[in-house]
Amino acid sequence: MEIDFPLTKIKEGKIEFYVPNFKKFEKEYKTYSSVLPVFYNPVMKLNRDFAVLVVQVFQMEKDYQITVCEPLAGCGVRGLRFAKEVEGVEEVVVNDLNPKAYKLIQKNISLNGLEKTVKVYCEDANFILSRFAGKGKRFDVVDVDPFGSPAPYLNSALRATKNGGLLCLTATDTAVLCGVHSKACLRRYEAKPLRTEYNHELAVRILVGFVCREAAKIDLAIQPVFCHSTNHYVRVYVKIFRGAKKADKALTGLGYIYHCFNCLNRKIFNKPFPENQTCEICGGTMDFAGPLWVKELWDKKFVEKMLNLANVKDLGKNLNKILWKIFLEIEGEPTYYVLSYLCDFLNIPTPSYQSIFKKLEKEGFKVTPTHFNPQGLKTNAPINILKKILLENV
Ligand SMILES: C[S@@+](CC[C@H](N)C(=O)[O-])C[C@H]1O[C@@H](n2cnc3c(N)ncnc32)[C@H](O)[C@@H]1O
Ligand SMILES: [Zn+2]
Repeated sequence: MEIDFPLTKIKEGKIEFYVPNFKKFEKEYKTYSSVLPVFYNPVMKLNRDFAVLVVQVFQMEKDYQITVCEPLAGCGVRGLRFAKEVEGVEEVVVNDLNPKAYKLIQKNISLNGLEKTVKVYCEDANFILSRFAGKGKRFDVVDVDPFGSPAPYLNSALRATKNGGLLCLTATDTAVLCGVHSKACLRRYEAKPLRTEYNHELAVRILVGFVCREAAKIDLAIQPVFCHSTNHYVRVYVKIFRGAKKADKALTGLGYIYHCFNCLNRKIFNKPFPENQTCEICGGTMDFAGPLWVKELWDKKFVEKMLNLANVKDLGKNLNKILWKIFLEIEGEPTYYVLSYLCDFLNIPTPSYQSIFKKLEKEGFKVTPTHFNPQGLKTNAPINILKKILLENV
């Protein structure tokens, strides 16, 4: 098959590559990325920048030449960036079911002179992952970046990841994970979502919880090292370890988050499922989200290494800003309060974020910002105290 559509050459990170000339398609369609003959979304640059950083830190921990697989590659930009920008990468396997993508990736490999490092296939993602799922064939890193949910590829991606390897997942079905379509969330992730002001964090926790349960079914354990929720997607990075005992231990990271819509109180439980919770603050009946991951979402040492490396690599101010906020929130409480939402709830004007932050600190509470929301506060202050502080401030 020949490339029979107009191309344009662009740059991202340290590579140059061809993508469909979206200006030609933009005239006919509103959202070009979904109608291009080969997929490319420039908005996901930040997602790929983070991926390059995470994979480099992971490689430095391993201290050997690693292998990477990107089974849903589009125009190949992500896989090519791994090959070019991450030091210590021996081989990158990229794949896309679309024959036009396969052709374009071949062209992009030649353009960047990466023939020795990058191999390209044109297969179904589950097929290619299963092909490399046997002992001795698995990858150090598998990066699943699909349209919508990674759920259809999870089992084969887990099987194709080495013991001690890294699995990276994007989910763009955030409306599902955030509780706009709760039936779809139950069906796809076997978890109940909840539409709260902190549902972006719940989305990440539901996805990690699902990965943990799917991994445990095949005697694999997960350890989350990094995650972020940006724009229209969530992204999680988990290390994978083999062993039934380890899998059992990982399952202890699952639980439920209860929420009181009457007073905004929340309560975190490990499994088993605690039925009919009454709010200890207002006596109301609490609703819940879960099962989901209730333990740490980030590995502090890993994020520290990312921060150090981000200072050396020039990956942009926005990435550094998000990374710094994540570093601050690592030891914060699960869930967060959104200051403007809380003040609307109390029917009072919203004070400055900094003033409330400082007041909470002064009263001896733990408080951190969160990358999930610019108005978000993670604190161990109970909701009634937080409300008292806000009302006194008016
Ligand atoms: C969101 S795009 C990938 C974007 C790419 N990872 C990046 O960073 O630019 C999803 C890709 O998956 C491909 N795809 C869809 N279903 C597939 C399947 N079952 N197996 C392999 N590729 C598939 C599509 O052709 C599309 O290129
Ligand atoms: Zn309550």
